[in-house]
Amino acid sequence: MTQSTPSTPSFSPPQDEGCVKVTYKGKTSKLPVLSGSTGNNVIDIRNLQNDLDLFTFDPGLGTTASCESKITFIDGDKGILLYRGYPIAQLAEHSTFPEIAFLLLYGNLPTRHEYNEFVNRLEEKSLLHEQIRNFFNGFRRDAHPMSILCGTVAGLSAFYPEGTDTSNEESRDVSAVHLIAKIPTIAAWAYKYSRGEPFVYPRADYSYSENFLNMLFARPDAPYKVNPIFSRALDRILILHADHEQNASTSTVRLTGSTGAHPFACIAAGIAALWGPAHGGANEAVLKMLRSIGSKENIPEFIAKVKDKNSDVRLMGFGHRVYKNFDPRASIMKRTCDEVLAELGEHDPLLELAMELEKYALQDDYFVQRKLYPNVDFYSGIIFKALGIPENMFTALFAVARTVGWVSQWKEAFNDPLRRIYRPRQLYTGPEERDLKGAKHN
Ligand code: ACO
Repeated sequence: MTQSTPSTPSFSPPQDEGCVKVTYKGKTSKLPVLSGSTGNNVIDIRNLQNDLDLFTFDPGLGTTASCESKITFIDGDKGILLYRGYPIAQLAEHSTFPEIAFLLLYGNLPTRHEYNEFVNRLEEKSLLHEQIRNFFNGFRRDAHPMSILCGTVAGLSAFYPEGTDTSNEESRDVSAVHLIAKIPTIAAWAYKYSRGEPFVYPRADYSYSENFLNMLFARPDAPYKVNPIFSRALDRILILHADHEQNASTSTVRLTGSTGAHPFACIAAGIAALWGPAHGGANEAVLKMLRSIGSKENIPEFIAKVKDKNSDVRLMGFGHRVYKNFDPRASIMKRTCDEVLAELGEHDPLLELAMELEKYALQDDYFVQRKLYPNVDFYSGIIFKALGIPENMFTALFAVARTVGWVSQWKEAFNDPLRRIYRPRQLYTGPEERDLKGAKHN
């Protein structure tokens, strides 16, 4: 099969919007202000060191644009999330996950022909080299799926050495497709391994999400019939998590890629960063919190603890570093949650508790004043639970979705004319130079 690499559409370069003058110790530096197609303007500080011998200080990089990107746009105040310019709500309603993968990777929605060809490529590459099965036996049965995912993805480079050639666009594209196709198989097999059940191979007659559910739940003694409402719900969750501009794991992928490391190493680094509880683990924490609250009557007492400055209890699934009015993904997630539970015909007590908790918090001044609203994770854990996905697989599922964003951003970084190795500076507060003589104990 021919593998065409769709060309990236061109967009206008940043516009020069005047400058900011910084004067320090009698010297002045004129720093250009650049504007992108939408969103905040940025001060280009690249000449600051040359002009004034100064660095900037921004722990957590909260006000630093670390790169130029054309992939995803967020306006946290207005609750806007766009993939390649398209609003997330429209994409979640009308697209499939492979379509979103194509859009994020190549810049435009696929034509029918491009879509079919792309889906075929994903299907072909979803199978793992048979020897990769041996990797799993090296792990304990109770290994966290994220440790299996992280290790196995890094190990893929040993099986697909051609993918380690980052020197040309075609090879980078092949690796990107390898990763999007293979990570669901690895994640599903990590689950199967933990259950002591036989691995289920990907099937060409299933969609991406159907395949994933089938690889998780089919057994030789009990074939699994994929429920279309469940596979659609999963597709939507994958779409909502596919990219989120320069978040911690994506920045990790870009940073690792800036050294020239091959894509399997870069994506393994992204998986490791996502594993942290402040990033990928929040939906698991929401379920734990709901269980610990137990019932509606206990909500006021729990909220009082959240508001108590002497306690470190937080309302998990509420608040976001960027979204300060609402998370546009949360309402889609809530609707999806309703659909899944209606299909199951279940009144999930945890969902009912979640809805009460949400209502209670949204009327409380503490949350209103701080602009704390439900985020995407408030409902995703409940949907995963309803789909039968165990809690320790939640972050692995997030990784399956985010792989699309990671490889798209990794590819974009490679083509960036400003690309250079990431090498931040620091504000050093340790000892000044001192002499070892006389300091060493004899
Ligand atoms: N519960 C209670 N209080 C909160 C919460 C919360 N969930 N989130 C923020 N606050 C309070 C803080 O205590 C602080 O109060 P103060 O001004 O009186 O000191 C104020 O709101 C601002 O909080 P920050 O920590 O500065 O907010 P930040 O934007 O840095 O944090 C974060 C964002 C980490 C997501 C935070 O809201 C949080 O911990 N939420 C719960 C965990 C969660 O749901 N994470 C998932 C995020 S979405 C994702 O990763 C896909």
